[in-house]
Amino acid sequence: MLSSLLAVSAAFLSLTGLAQGIPQAGVSSTGAACNNSPLLCDRNYNNITHMGAHDSAFLRNKETSFSTAGNQFYDVTAALSAGIRLLQAQVHNLSGALKLCHTSCSLLDGGSLESFLSDIKIWMDSNPNEVVTLLLVNSDNMPAATIGDSFTTSGISKYGFAPASTSGPMATWPTLQTLISANTRLVSFITNIEHDSTKPYLLPEFDYVFETAFGVSSVGGFNCTVDRPSSLGSGSTAVSKGYLGLLNHFLDIEQSFGITVPDVANIATTNSASTNTTGTAGTHGAQCQSEWGVRPTFILVDFFNVGPAIQTADQLNGISPVGRTSLSTAVLTAESSGAASTSGSGISWFGLAGFGMGVIALGNFVFL
Ligand SMILES: *[C@@H]1O[C@H](CO)[C@@H](O)[C@H](O)[C@H]1NC(C)=O
Ligand SMILES: *[C@@H]1O[C@H](CO)[C@@H](O)[C@H](O)[C@H]1NC(C)=O
Ligand SMILES: *[C@@H]1O[C@H](CO)[C@@H](O)[C@H](O)[C@H]1NC(C)=O
Ligand SMILES: *[C@@H]1O[C@H](CO)[C@@H](O)[C@H](O)[C@H]1NC(C)=O
Repeated sequence: MLSSLLAVSAAFLSLTGLAQGIPQAGVSSTGAACNNSPLLCDRNYNNITHMGAHDSAFLRNKETSFSTAGNQFYDVTAALSAGIRLLQAQVHNLSGALKLCHTSCSLLDGGSLESFLSDIKIWMDSNPNEVVTLLLVNSDNMPAATIGDSFTTSGISKYGFAPASTSGPMATWPTLQTLISANTRLVSFITNIEHDSTKPYLLPEFDYVFETAFGVSSVGGFNCTVDRPSSLGSGSTAVSKGYLGLLNHFLDIEQSFGITVPDVANIATTNSASTNTTGTAGTHGAQCQSEWGVRPTFILVDFFNVGPAIQTADQLNGISPVGRTSLSTAVLTAESSGAASTSGSGISWFGLAGFGMGVIALGNFVFL
């Protein structure tokens, strides 16, 4: 009786101790979580696996009539609340406006870059202890200054992190706590840009990051070989030069006319954290960690809620997360979400076929 009372009061004391901010080993001095764990506050940005939503603006939901070209069931705000900390998107120049489109704006129009950035900024405003990374594929080679204008008008530029080294890889990144304290909590990698001193927070992706192959089409096709930049040699060599490793961990499946779409049939396996099954994120992550000698910094997945994919990052980071919203891990379909399933996949398929033969003619018809 007495001993159990003592145990209870000891537990109570240790809880109040935590609440008063008595630091534990490896835990931030405020006791607050950074990116969903106090253990991550004092860890360098590059020594953390950031789970990412590939093509985060291309949704397969009611709004897009469950377009087969969609890569995610949930939008960026839901993704951030569920723990996703890397958002990837494709930027296109549509008559002078920057839009997020899937290969072509007629195939899938994910809205303007500015509204995408605004949504992320609003989430960051209300989540001040979170560090977010963007990866923008600059499909039409827009200059950094032009892309930066959308960062300015959305208001997100104030969070932009500009490293001291403007021209290349960085072996030691700040800790999350350093980024949070400076309120430079947005790390933005952009392809096909030059460093621009007026927008120093836009980082040319391949000066800092290397990637494994994308467009993998079989469960056994994932590996840890450097695909881009091709000049870097092996993954462990790239890491030793200070580059951050990114795993493209999503599967495509070929439809007709050479069009590929996300492979949703294998998604439960692809996004699983299991480390003893071929083709899972867990196995891919563990394999690259072993080959490179460090945990992968980034992993990109489709349909992030399935798995949920974030478990692989938690496993690699060695954390038990706090402060996340949990989402259904189900594959969303017109039927499961109660949406009218009048046209659904038939029309989307037509759209994809139309893309091969002439998007402009069929595009509007398809997604109206
Ligand atoms: C990376 O983080 C681990 C904790 O998971 C730590 O033991 C290790 O020292 C860190 N590496 C560097 C280079 O800081
Ligand atoms: C963007 O597109 C517009 C119209 O299609 C074109 O005039 C402009 O030169 C393009 N901008 C760049 C930087 O390529
Ligand atoms: C790595 O995977 C990619 C995609 O499956 C493949 O094209 C490439 O040949 C593989 N590399 C090695 C060394 O196995
Ligand atoms: C695979 O790993 C899981 C835990 O992640 C374990 O429960 C299961 O027994 C393992 N299966 C095999 C075949 O090793």
